[in-house]
Amino acid sequence: MTWLPRRRPLSLTLRVALLLSAVAVTTFIVVGAYLYQTLQRQMARRDDVELIAKVDQIRSVLEDLPSVAAIVRDARPLKDTLTGHNDFMLRVNTPDGKPLLQTSITSRPLPAVDSVPAGRPLTMDDIHDWQPQTGRGRMVRAVGLVGVDTASGKGGEPVQIILARERSDRLKLLRAYVGDLLVALCGGALLATALGYVVVRYSMRQFRSVIAKADDINTSRLNTRLSVDDAPVELRQMGAAFNAMLDRLEDGVQRLSGFAADLAHDLRTPVNTLMVETQVALSRPRTAEEYQHLLASNLEEYERLARMIENTLFLARADNAQLALQRESLDLQAELQRIHDYFEFLAEDAGLRLTVDAPPLRAEIDPVLLQRAVNNLVSNAIRYTPAGGTVAVTARATADGVDIAVSNTGPGIAPEHLPHIFDRYYRADQARSDQAHSAGLGLSIVRAIMALHGGKLSVDSQPGELTTFFLQFRGGKNI
Ligand SMILES: Nc1ncnc2c1ncn2[C@@H]1O[C@H](COP(=O)(O)OP(=O)(O)OP(=O)(O)O)[C@@H](O)[C@H]1O
Ligand SMILES: [Mg+2]
Repeated sequence: MTWLPRRRPLSLTLRVALLLSAVAVTTFIVVGAYLYQTLQRQMARRDDVELIAKVDQIRSVLEDLPSVAAIVRDARPLKDTLTGHNDFMLRVNTPDGKPLLQTSITSRPLPAVDSVPAGRPLTMDDIHDWQPQTGRGRMVRAVGLVGVDTASGKGGEPVQIILARERSDRLKLLRAYVGDLLVALCGGALLATALGYVVVRYSMRQFRSVIAKADDINTSRLNTRLSVDDAPVELRQMGAAFNAMLDRLEDGVQRLSGFAADLAHDLRTPVNTLMVETQVALSRPRTAEEYQHLLASNLEEYERLARMIENTLFLARADNAQLALQRESLDLQAELQRIHDYFEFLAEDAGLRLTVDAPPLRAEIDPVLLQRAVNNLVSNAIRYTPAGGTVAVTARATADGVDIAVSNTGPGIAPEHLPHIFDRYYRADQARSDQAHSAGLGLSIVRAIMALHGGKLSVDSQPGELTTFFLQFRGGKNI
């Protein structure tokens, strides 16, 4: 039935209220059933006690009678014992079954149960069930003695006492009680549901305030926070998580807008240069050489722009985890030697000594990204080391991976810049940085590459002495 519209799930308030009412109804039913059972048992017991008391009374009336014939002659003393009890039926028979007295007639036969002998007091076990026309009944047979000698308490003629009782009025009472219980149960369930709904709705008001706050938040109003101090524990945890999420969002949005502003700023410079140069060139006729020179100069700017765009894209893709790592088992010594060969002439040009020191070592690293990371560090070192200095690249195995370090001599990085140099577009020394070639993206790219590998990038700079960048690759297996 997929074409039917999906039903909206019930609200939490209603769910909890319904659960509460289910709990209440179950409790009512269990308690009601228990009360009913207890009442029924107690009533039955009381009826049996009454039956026994009546038989005792009848026995003593019989004892006081002068003879069996007196029963037939005047049944009143015996009948009086049952005054006010229309549900009782008394029969008194001779031992051989001849009726002497019968208060009412029942169409149902009474079962032939054992008779309690004369002189033995009755107990609860002497009471038996019998089946009247309607409902159920209890009965007892006992032997009574007529005309007992008052002085000695002996003698007397035995007669059969049969006392039966219908319990239909009792059952009616119990049925009425069940009816009352059911009404109370329905009423109680409704009341529990309504009260539950009100109570849950009241408890949920804190949630609603969270929702209202969340509704209020957008990218320009990310500084709103939930006040969680006076909230209940459960909500405090949720509120704290929500606030932490807002912190991260705010930080992310701030970085994103800063990133966009920096990007626009850095793109504007080369584009402006290109525009001005082109305008100047077009202001009057030029020779072919002049145009060639202009195009060559423009090409440099284009290359810089292309590099910036490529770097920015790389970082954006690394941020969104869209870059798939292609780890390979690399010969690190060979990789670092290749980098040395690539930068050797550049270092020589800058009047620097470039050394590589790596033992034979293998590690599981993405070769393209490793090159990119180390290239960035080495080109930084060459760029920021004054002539006459040294740039050293070293590698060593650690317990759970490999460490690569790129260090250089020179003035180093001032402590106030250290926490920021890994940020995008951050350049420690604006004056010293070669504005035309430096974008401040190199180290953020290295950091992104290390994050992709699950590794760490760190720096240690002693101004005037040595500046070292460490790449700590973890998880790669050493061979
Ligand atoms: N080896 C180093 N010695 C001294 N300062 C350094 C060194 N490496 C980086 N820095 C400082 O850190 C800043 C950030 O470096 P990063 O590589 O991110 O950007 P950049 O080199 O300025 O530009 P890009 O690498 O994008 O061309 C540099 O501007 C520089 O001031
Ligand atoms: Mg750099």
